[in-house]
Amino acid sequence: MHKKPVMKFPKRFLWGAATAAHQVEGSQHNQWSEWELGNAKSRSVQAEYQYSDLHSWQHISQEAKQAGTYVSGKSTNHYENYEHDFDIAAKLQLNAFRFSVEWSRIEPKEGTWNAEALDHYKLYIQALKRRGIEPMMTLFHFSLPCWFSEMGGFEKRSNIKYFVRFTKKVMQELGSDIKYVITINEPEVYAVQSYYEGNWPPAIRSKWKTYQVLRNLIATHKQAAAVIHSLNRRYKVSIAKNSAYMYPGDDAWVTRLSAQVGQYFQDDYILKRVRKSCDFIGVNYYFSNRFYGYRIHNPNEHVSDLGWDMQPENIEYVLERLHRKYKLPIVVTENGLADATDEQRKWWLTHTMIAMSNALAEGVDLRGYFHWSLLDNFEWANGTWPRFGLVAVDYTTGKRTVRASAIWWSKILKKIISN
Ligand code: BGC
Repeated sequence: MHKKPVMKFPKRFLWGAATAAHQVEGSQHNQWSEWELGNAKSRSVQAEYQYSDLHSWQHISQEAKQAGTYVSGKSTNHYENYEHDFDIAAKLQLNAFRFSVEWSRIEPKEGTWNAEALDHYKLYIQALKRRGIEPMMTLFHFSLPCWFSEMGGFEKRSNIKYFVRFTKKVMQELGSDIKYVITINEPEVYAVQSYYEGNWPPAIRSKWKTYQVLRNLIATHKQAAAVIHSLNRRYKVSIAKNSAYMYPGDDAWVTRLSAQVGQYFQDDYILKRVRKSCDFIGVNYYFSNRFYGYRIHNPNEHVSDLGWDMQPENIEYVLERLHRKYKLPIVVTENGLADATDEQRKWWLTHTMIAMSNALAEGVDLRGYFHWSLLDNFEWANGTWPRFGLVAVDYTTGKRTVRASAIWWSKILKKIISN
């Protein structure tokens, strides 16, 4: 007989979903919204070339070929619909929620604070608290005010002070109801996509700039964390670190070395530099990479709509390794998949839950899990076609439909929470 795996989670475990302002709020005016307007047409024209190898192509082709798909526009209009969205989150048994505040709303002009935007986020956080949902606030999740990016953004060390000033203002205004703060989401992903690959604004391709931006983001985190801690030591601060599991496909020494070096650059280059100013490690996990020699060749037994190789169970090894190396509490700040037909989400969640429970049994101090995402949303340069939501969004009507996998998950959570 098949024995059901026993899953054990601590009583105060955070069960949440994550979002980012630019991806869900709608009606933005920032460096992304500007860039989208100039690039949507070419993204739609290139769609067939870019995506037609994906198994999801049949399903997505119509949407992917439309220019409007690559403009965030009204998006899910979460800015106006948050009460309704938090009702859904509460119904899904979530007791935590990760979101980002939009800098371009709060400081639309350099040095000018928008009281209305600050009031909005005050009400937003209160709406979570009222429902017994613990907020986790991100300060920089890829979107920047135009004035900041026009003065060179994080390319310039002398610009860091503007972000630090923003951090201080946000914490002074919103901090009373907040405990968990993420300063920067995925520093390498931002630096590489925007300055190395040239896929994201400002779409530059320069190794030197990539390196500079990365260095400046590390310094930015340190300074922001120091300001937050100086306001109150009770704040729990981290970055959200993109991780992946790197493993050898054979026994050759080159292969094993490549996987090790790959893992080092994936996790440790940044974490070693920021660990002292982190109270926990926020980790985003989506995929694994299998090495043969120094090349990556994945088994692709399960692939997401975006073509990512999915091995949810490997999150266990990521968590165990981070625990061994850094001895800090860990929160999974993002984890999920693009799955428009919802065929793989239940499978993904099941294996992720088992893996996290195993990691806990191995002694990992894991404090929470945030699924990416609560809602379908604007997936950056890929536009709206990738569907990451526990809740499906119809972008024409704004209608929310809870996916079957989410209903299933909420039943599991109910059992775990009440045990
Ligand atoms: C980012 C999210 C993104 C998700 C899925 C993470 O890299 O933080 O903004 O939507 O992955 O690609």
